[in-house]
Amino acid sequence: RAAQQAQSLAMTDALSQACDYYRAQLRGATNAITYLKNRGLTGEIAARFGMGYAPSGWDNLRSVFPDYDALALVESGLVIDKVDEDGSNKKRYDRFRERIMFPIRNTKGQVIGFGGRVLDQGEPKYLNSPETPLFQKGLELYGLFEARQAIRDAGYVLVTEGYMDVVALAQLGFPQAVATLGTACTSTHVQKLLRQTDNVIFSFDGDKAGRRAARRALEACLPQVSDNKTIQFLFLPEKHDPDSFVREYGADAFAQEINDAMPLSQFLLREVTGDHDLSTPEGRAATQYDAKPLLQAMTPSALRLQIVRGLASLTESTPAEIEGLFELSKPVSV
Ligand code: GTP
Ligand code: MN
Ligand code: MN
Ligand code: MN
Ligand code: MN
Repeated sequence: RAAQQAQSLAMTDALSQACDYYRAQLRGATNAITYLKNRGLTGEIAARFGMGYAPSGWDNLRSVFPDYDALALVESGLVIDKVDEDGSNKKRYDRFRERIMFPIRNTKGQVIGFGGRVLDQGEPKYLNSPETPLFQKGLELYGLFEARQAIRDAGYVLVTEGYMDVVALAQLGFPQAVATLGTACTSTHVQKLLRQTDNVIFSFDGDKAGRRAARRALEACLPQVSDNKTIQFLFLPEKHDPDSFVREYGADAFAQEINDAMPLSQFLLREVTGDHDLSTPEGRAATQYDAKPLLQAMTPSALRLQIVRGLASLTESTPAEIEGLFELSKPVSV
């Protein structure tokens, strides 16, 4: 137990020192600064998020950590141990090289991991810290620490897909944004969000992946829907994400999108309708079939009742008939 705690401490310490190092490196890195400028980011916003730069080279962190062999460096994901197949010839090298660095903080503000973006077309576009005892992607939201007060002030949180969305939105007047870390929105994410605010607005990319992410977010939300909370979905044009949209059309246009965001009830009914032809019995039946798991995932609430009524009217049925079909008894997860 105490050993575990000491190890956590060593990891947190290493991550914090690495963060300081990457930040210092950004100051002199003209290529990285040019990249950020070209993306419209100011030095002020980069500093607010503690952004940095990992320069080229395989063992720069040697200059930061006198004991480059320390276990905490591997465990925190800062360095990688490469061992030959026969177990000999162990080689250690820095995980992040030639990347813009985004520190990921926990709710206490401690750095628990990094996302690193390439400056060019290289692959992978983003490299994240591996899962560690401190950093589990399905639990963490990028920018939540930085956004906490702004979420309270705005009365809602914007949930995006990407680091750049969070930083760009903050710069252009929407500091109440966070991002899932390239993973689907989990029920733990939703739980964390609803602990911060009563109003959640998902704002994913307008592309296919973004629409899929919205569907997954809907499913993660359903068991946690309650009548004193609102959950909404903002759908951007196909080729845009929040970053590109707010830069192309401006803050007022994005504020309008927020205003026009689709309530969860409407999104759910749109999802279950899908391509079904509601003018035919088959289409109406298929719609009810698709609605079943979603409505079963919800606990009883006034909103659930409203959705059942909406579904009933779309499918020429009564709410009682729909509940009968669903045999409401036990919620299932979707
Ligand atoms: P920019 O191109 O810098 O504007 O990034 P983006 O955030 O718009 O990227 P995209 O919409 O393609 O991806 C959304 C999020 O998914 C990113 O912010 C990352 O968290 C994650 N992601 C994207 N590409 C990769 C990748 O190659 N590897 C990993 N691990 N995650 C990625
Ligand atoms: Mn995308
Ligand atoms: Mn983008
Ligand atoms: Mn994107
Ligand atoms: Mn269907």
